[in-house]
Amino acid sequence: MSEMATTSLSEQSLREILVDLATEARRRRFDVAPNPCVGAAVIAGGQVLARGFHEYWGGPHAEVEALRAARASGVGPENWEALVVTLEPCSTTGKTPPCTEAILRSGIRRVIVGALDPDPRHRGAGLRLLQEAGIEVEFVPRASELERTAPHFLRWVDIDRQRRPRPWTIAKWAQTRSGQLSPPPQVGGGRWISGPDSLREVQMLRGRVDAIVSGVTTVLHDDPRFTVRPPGDPSKPPLRVILDSYLRTPTDCKLFAPPGPGEGAGEVHILCQAGANAARHRALEAAGAKVTGLHSSEEDHVALRDVQEWLWHKGVRRVLLEAGPQLLTRHLESGFVDQVRVYTGDVMGGEGPTMAPWFTRMRLAERLDREVAADAVLESFVLPSE
Ligand SMILES: NC(=O)c1ccc[n+]([C@@H]2O[C@H](COP(=O)([O-])OP(=O)(O)OC[C@H]3O[C@@H](n4cnc5c(N)ncnc54)[C@H](OP(=O)(O)O)[C@@H]3O)[C@@H](O)[C@H]2O)c1
Repeated sequence: MSEMATTSLSEQSLREILVDLATEARRRRFDVAPNPCVGAAVIAGGQVLARGFHEYWGGPHAEVEALRAARASGVGPENWEALVVTLEPCSTTGKTPPCTEAILRSGIRRVIVGALDPDPRHRGAGLRLLQEAGIEVEFVPRASELERTAPHFLRWVDIDRQRRPRPWTIAKWAQTRSGQLSPPPQVGGGRWISGPDSLREVQMLRGRVDAIVSGVTTVLHDDPRFTVRPPGDPSKPPLRVILDSYLRTPTDCKLFAPPGPGEGAGEVHILCQAGANAARHRALEAAGAKVTGLHSSEEDHVALRDVQEWLWHKGVRRVLLEAGPQLLTRHLESGFVDQVRVYTGDVMGGEGPTMAPWFTRMRLAERLDREVAADAVLESFVLPSE
């Protein structure tokens, strides 16, 4: 692989393009994680003709988006000089087909990358495949290193995590100004803290995870459905996983109701302690749940480590934890939270324990504070405790 780029652009210009792409790609870090942030550009006439980004987890990769935008530009592929991409293209099928295939199909003859895949199983594989197919491959060192563009991805592919894999968990909660997760009884029907725009965002997020995890107390208190409704994508709804050590989930709760029009409802899984009441087990399965017994923790709940393993073996890679303070706290204490999204509604007071102490205890990284209508939203990665 050559280290010097030989398009009509100088190495300095290519480096600038890569840095710009990486900066823009990083804006989507919380939407793509645990995937890396990636940007790509098609060069024609010595200039950037079209750009594309990996916008959200499960969505098309940056190379595919850049090629699509180049096609839409009206400038024919015969004029495309090169594809510049911040990270080596993938050569394996994941949620989407391999990018190397899309590149080969596009007819582009030159690919310039700013970083190699850090995963030893894939490192260099995409570039080798392209080279073997006759594509000129170039590498601009230190242009878009993952330490800068996507440190979360390095944590995800870290060898220790691969040895004991667990899904990427996003803990999402809504809290009042004092950090309580239940509003005063007279507000939001005793349930709703955040506003309608925030709730729409949550629907989008639900459509982009493999599973929603919650606890039986939330089911008993709120009777949630955990379905996906527009603007979320209801086509592949996440599994709905309830941690319920003693099978207290009511058989007539809304989790078992048929989905409404345009609504996506994933399978309901109840994870209980092995040996939990057999009659309840049968009744819940008859209601539509799949019930699985796992080991119990020292506190006599379902063991969270077993839950992580169960999810992983189910093929779940990205989890949305939508639970109350008990399960949130247990996940945080166990180091099983990778990312948080916290909505603080314009509500005073509230009921139940507050999550406020966690804001000093959690090691937050790359934090982003934003507003959605009257709600304040905090998004951040959570680093493992030291
Ligand atoms: N504002 C928000 O974002 C939000 C979101 C969800 C819920 N809530 C509110 O939170 C309240 C419920 O809070 P919560 O904290 O009691 O509910 P939770 O965290 O959703 O569920 C707790 C229950 O999960 C079960 N569980 C199973 N395995 C566990 C484990 N390893 N560790 C701990 N618990 C385990 C326990 O019951 P078993 O031992 O019987 O299994 C426990 O009582 C409700 O009022 C609800 O409205 C608010």
